[in-house]
Amino acid sequence: MNEVINAILTRVSVRQFTDQRIEDEKLKLIADCAKAAPTGKNRQARKFTVVHNREKIQELAQAIAKVHNRNDYRIYGCDAILLISFAEDDRYGQCDSSCAIENTYLAAESLGLGAVWINQLRDKCNEPEIRNILDSFHIPHNHVICGFVALGYPAEKPVIKERTEPVEFIY
Ligand SMILES: Cc1cc2nc3c(=O)[nH]c(=O)nc-3n(C[C@H](O)[C@H](O)[C@H](O)COP(=O)(O)O)c2cc1C
Repeated sequence: MNEVINAILTRVSVRQFTDQRIEDEKLKLIADCAKAAPTGKNRQARKFTVVHNREKIQELAQAIAKVHNRNDYRIYGCDAILLISFAEDDRYGQCDSSCAIENTYLAAESLGLGAVWINQLRDKCNEPEIRNILDSFHIPHNHVICGFVALGYPAEKPVIKERTEPVEFIY
């Protein structure tokens, strides 16, 4: 099968990662692939932030734990995260960032990495604990995050989930 189609059809979310550090070149390539995703009216108004520091990821996880009241919260022991932020009043922001996240999934998997969408910053970016961390990542004050991606070398091989949504062809 064509490699692109195969990657799309076999993509899975990975939630267990090894301790292996991701090579910088791979993260740069993944960020390029995320950026290559389309944006409404070609505005290209997203900001991409790669955090490749487990301590800083843990600080973010602790802030998320606090605002969600989830003591045990961690970001699956991932090695890096890719945050996609956009201006809060950008009506295309969520759609544009979602396209980038899917590209990230596909690029990661094609490089032997695992990825999973993390939703816990959605509607929480203006909580002081979270904003402090986002400030430390140089994310603009008017930016919010809908989803971000946890990345790492996979320590599990999840099964591909059955797809059950209807598709109707009208001729
Ligand atoms: C909008 C959205 C939000 C998601 N949020 C999370 C999340 O916070 N944590 C998580 O582990 N997975 C999250 N996921 C991943 C989904 O759970 C996953 O894509 C779904 O179970 C299907 O599995 P698959 O990706 O292996 O096909 C999210 C996916 C989407 C599209």
